[in-house]
Amino acid sequence: MQERANNIVPSDSDSKFRKLTLLREKSKVSGGKDKILSQHNKGKLTARERIDLLIDEDSFVEIDELVIHQKSGFNMQKNRPIGDGVIIGYGTISGRQVFLYSQDFTVFGGSLGNAHAKKICKIMDLAFKNGCPVIGILDSGGARIQEGIDSLAGYGDIFYRNVKASGVIPQISVILGPCAGGAVYSPALTDFILMNQTNSFMFVTGPEVVKAVTGEDVTFYELGGSDVHSSQSGVCHQVGETEEETLDLTKKLLSYIPSNNLDEPPSSTGKISTISLKNQSKIIPEKDNEPYDMKKIIETTVDSESFFELQSNWAKNMIVGFGRLNGSSIGLIANQPLFLGGAIDSHASDKAARFIRFCDSFNLPIITFVDVPGFLPGIKQEHDGIIRHGAKLLYAYSEATIPKISVIIRKAYGGAYIVMSSKHLGCDINFAWPTAEIAVMGAEGACKILYRQKLKTSENPEAVLSDFITDYKNEFSNPYKAAELGYVDKVILPEETRREISAALQMLQNKRERTPSRKHGIMPV
Ligand code: HXC
Repeated sequence: MQERANNIVPSDSDSKFRKLTLLREKSKVSGGKDKILSQHNKGKLTARERIDLLIDEDSFVEIDELVIHQKSGFNMQKNRPIGDGVIIGYGTISGRQVFLYSQDFTVFGGSLGNAHAKKICKIMDLAFKNGCPVIGILDSGGARIQEGIDSLAGYGDIFYRNVKASGVIPQISVILGPCAGGAVYSPALTDFILMNQTNSFMFVTGPEVVKAVTGEDVTFYELGGSDVHSSQSGVCHQVGETEEETLDLTKKLLSYIPSNNLDEPPSSTGKISTISLKNQSKIIPEKDNEPYDMKKIIETTVDSESFFELQSNWAKNMIVGFGRLNGSSIGLIANQPLFLGGAIDSHASDKAARFIRFCDSFNLPIITFVDVPGFLPGIKQEHDGIIRHGAKLLYAYSEATIPKISVIIRKAYGGAYIVMSSKHLGCDINFAWPTAEIAVMGAEGACKILYRQKLKTSENPEAVLSDFITDYKNEFSNPYKAAELGYVDKVILPEETRREISAALQMLQNKRERTPSRKHGIMPV
């Protein structure tokens, strides 16, 4: 059969076929072998090696591999590398279709010109039309200087698509090299940013500009490395030690999220086991002002080893991440008493609000674990706009229509009680442990305000205060008043938590909540 096919092809076709093979071979090393070596010498993988690590074996289909730029000037007409510094295509990750682009630093430093941008836009459009995630692997010097405004236009076209696709298909940015200038705003518009610990950095204005404007000396990595963005700015969601690990984390992240806003979240078909719940009640210390690790409660509730935390080093007083319950993906949000006593500050509000919006867009139920003494007091917080930031969290919880379940573990005080997925913001099922304290404020603070005069005139104010505190705790520092009023649906024992949440999720699986017709609300961003 093969012979026959060859026979019927005119002989000059051979050279035509060879030409294509040759072009393809050239496109694999379009920046030159020396540039590939230099990339490796920097401890970096090439754009193609990264794709090979990310995508299921033999599943990647490249398109636009023969695209070249059409520019002249700056000697550009003599330098038209095949592919123009970005590889685009589609393939599968764990059998699920994804679309991706991977910038090739060996070609013009991965810089973005008109043709390069058009390729990225093409793959984003395909992902959008087909309802599949789009993953960008970024390693670029930014706007291609030789192409001037045309490269800026290219960025604009990408940003526009990022926004149109937001909440429709998941968008993930993997930063494995430089990402500088306005170029940072495409990743910033995507849902998740992953960075590599050693060789990725992101900043709007680089060290030289910083030096010129403010006189500060700073390196690339001090200004915008993974440490900064995972612990201070909150820009980055996950950091991998190596490029391989960063790409593995990308695959793991994808395993929790659906392909688009109309799809169901993926289910794990693997073995589902849980960590023993026997000692769950022992996690909480006897003294109500002693901290404990909320992650232990999350980990003993969800399927074993399924908790995948995001932004774990930033705004540590608020935990966000994905997990699975009986194999199904869920979003998890919790106060962390180990940091700032679990109080909500501006960053914690931003972190949780954004995560809620992602879960709501992509049909992931949200489970909230509450232990919150209130909003963080302080001049800095007030002046930084805790009013505005805290409102984002209220808005996001209220707006979300996916199934919402909360468990009050210990403190739920004041405005923070309301904001942390209370019944009043539309939470579907509210649980509380017997250790829950639901009140306007903590016992000591409340008694000092209520009984100020009596304490002033008392001969033994400490003993009197202690009596008042005991009375207050008996009256308010428990979940039963809230349960009597129906603000808590059920008081449960710690070891019942997993079963009760599972049953509630099952009950809510067909939840439908209509929102009033409007263009969009005005979130206090
Ligand atoms: C054209 C570029 C380039 C760019 C790098 N190259 N950036 N070519 N346009 N923006 C080329 C270099 O000339 C070099 O070409 C090759 O890529 C590798 O660059 P090196 O500097 O040798 O590599 P390295 O030492 O690793 O440094 C990488 C770098 C540095 C940190 C990214 O190149 C750099 O600072 N580039 C400029 C970054 C920048 O300021 N970009 C513009 C940002 S403004 P040869 O031929 O010598 O190998 C922006 C606006 C976007 O992006 C606005 C959107 C709204």
